[in-house]
Amino acid sequence: MSAGLPELTDLLGPIEGELERMRAIIGAQLEDRSAAVSDMTAHVGRFRGKQLRGSLVLLLGRATGNLSAEHPSVAAVVEMIHLATLVHDDILDGALVRRRVASVNQRWDNQVAVLLGDFLYARAFSLSTDLSSRLASRVLAETTRRLCVGEIEQSARRYDFEMSQEQLESIAGAKTASLYAAACELGASYRMGQDEPADPELGREMREFGWEIGLAFQLVDDCLDITGEEAELGKTVGTDVEDGKVTLPVLHTFARADATKRARIRDIFMAPGLERRARVLREELDLGPGIEYTLSRAAELVASARGRLAKLPPSPLRDGLFELGGFVLGRKW
Ligand code: IPE
Ligand code: IPE
Ligand code: MG
Ligand code: MG
Repeated sequence: MSAGLPELTDLLGPIEGELERMRAIIGAQLEDRSAAVSDMTAHVGRFRGKQLRGSLVLLLGRATGNLSAEHPSVAAVVEMIHLATLVHDDILDGALVRRRVASVNQRWDNQVAVLLGDFLYARAFSLSTDLSSRLASRVLAETTRRLCVGEIEQSARRYDFEMSQEQLESIAGAKTASLYAAACELGASYRMGQDEPADPELGREMREFGWEIGLAFQLVDDCLDITGEEAELGKTVGTDVEDGKVTLPVLHTFARADATKRARIRDIFMAPGLERRARVLREELDLGPGIEYTLSRAAELVASARGRLAKLPPSPLRDGLFELGGFVLGRKW
């Protein structure tokens, strides 16, 4: 593997066959007799995203020696839940672009985007109940509840500059890290025909690994929303500021600002009719230290996650999971 940022395709090489199977399963689940629905699912299926969460199910399955014939289906359920959250999230954020194409709310409207998200959740859970173990349904239903709570809490805390970092991380954890955690736990412990996990202790440890990787992923995402480019990321940037979401780079900047600067930050977020809030924020304030602080927190989480890999037998797969932390930290998309 080359030095620097690891290539995602290199990291996913060892599970390429299972990933193909996962993609085929997702494709079949997206089909529907309704031409209107098919039109929409073809649209969201055109670009598949990084598929990191589904890949983690498969990578952990292989790295623990636990991979089964149903792991690609479990991975498909995870990816479909993720896709449903994206379709709904773009409504909440008023985002226009997702995975390099128009978001569903932009291409159609909010009403159908709500329903398409619901359709995707329904398909995901119908697939999970067809599995020979109830473990995936159990873990993923609870995860979906947490995920929704995270998005609701985040919405309730818009414009809250007094939030603690702990509260912020708990929300980011619920909305994003929880699905990473579930993916890793299921990869390591899902067993066909058995409702109980294969190795509960290892499952819990890999769950923690996923949680830390997922939280780091979201913190990096919050930086990219400020510093990234739509063309590279493939999604609308600046929506956090536009929509009043206080992320760690901003919270850190606010906490260290004097009264005048704080008032200005509030104004940039809240003044009615202000155009391009994210750009104004970037131009008027030095967000560099806040970004740096956030990235160092993400690096700390990845370091802790990597430490947990000692519980796995040494293998190229384990090395790949270590490298994946580097991708999460350095990613540009
Ligand atoms: C986007 O996740 C949502 C966040 C949690 C930040 P990804 O960046 O993994 O989205 P895709 O699946 O690759 O499009
Ligand atoms: C949303 O976080 C995470 C979800 C659970 C969908 P973001 O709002 O930061 O995700 P992006 O930036 O739109 O992908
Ligand atoms: Mg969003
Ligand atoms: Mg984001």
